[in-house]
Amino acid sequence: MAILEVREITKNFGGLTALKDVCLSVQEGELRGIIGPNGAGKTTLFNVISGDLKPTGGKVYLQGEDITGLPPHKICKKGLGRTFQLTMVFPELTVYESIWVGINSRKEKPWDPFRSFEKDSDVSERAEELCRIVGLYEKRDELASNLSYGDQKALEIAMALSTDPAVLLLDEPTQGVSPKEAEGLIELIVELSKRMTIVLIEHSVDVVLRLCHKVTVLNEGRVIAEGSPEEISRNKEVQRIYLGT
Ligand SMILES: Nc1ncnc2c1ncn2[C@@H]1O[C@H](COP(=O)(O)OP(=O)(O)O)[C@@H](O)[C@H]1O
Ligand SMILES: [Mg+2]
Repeated sequence: MAILEVREITKNFGGLTALKDVCLSVQEGELRGIIGPNGAGKTTLFNVISGDLKPTGGKVYLQGEDITGLPPHKICKKGLGRTFQLTMVFPELTVYESIWVGINSRKEKPWDPFRSFEKDSDVSERAEELCRIVGLYEKRDELASNLSYGDQKALEIAMALSTDPAVLLLDEPTQGVSPKEAEGLIELIVELSKRMTIVLIEHSVDVVLRLCHKVTVLNEGRVIAEGSPEEISRNKEVQRIYLGT
């Protein structure tokens, strides 16, 4: 059974069809790449999966359960984590606090105004562990707004991990970061992919072909190719789109 299954998703914005009958079936443990030109519908697809947008038609299943049209926080609780193409950190919280808030939100009785960030030891331990996993342990007391762009992206990944997702959606995590930081983020993604299912939207076709088990190519709201990196790099239509040949 696929851990994430997208069936014939269509999304219209007024007269514009951003997605048309998109199907995607991701197996547990897979690192799936999604590529496609700007405006292809990649982010819209993530927004439909995460519940940030309701589809015009079609279904989304997570771990076999129909999650179509549920609000984002419910889909998150069912095991989906995501990051956004435009970075979204809490500027006024530290690295540690940002992650702590995420972990705490998963608990049965999450909100207790009389409990400090420090007092709940299993939450604190997990927050420290996540700081370490994403390479921000030394910077755990920095305000999120003081971090470099690459570190903010790593923090966003940690925040997405804080709810212990079964499937993690990453929307262009290396966009706009320095080449050195991009390399670090890619290493992190590879490391995480050994332990969980990841769907990665990535601008760099080279990166996707190098890392991913399977690649899906979107163009003008449709899946135009899907297969192993070798198959995708040999695909004539993909070559035409990317190389103009
Ligand atoms: N909220 C929205 N309202 C109207 N049009 C949108 C909205 N979000 C995306 N679109 C349009 O849908 C198409 C796909 O966009 P998007 O999913 O962001 O593409 P990608 O992430 O592949 O670059 C584009 O034409 C975009 O302008
Ligand atoms: Mg996008």
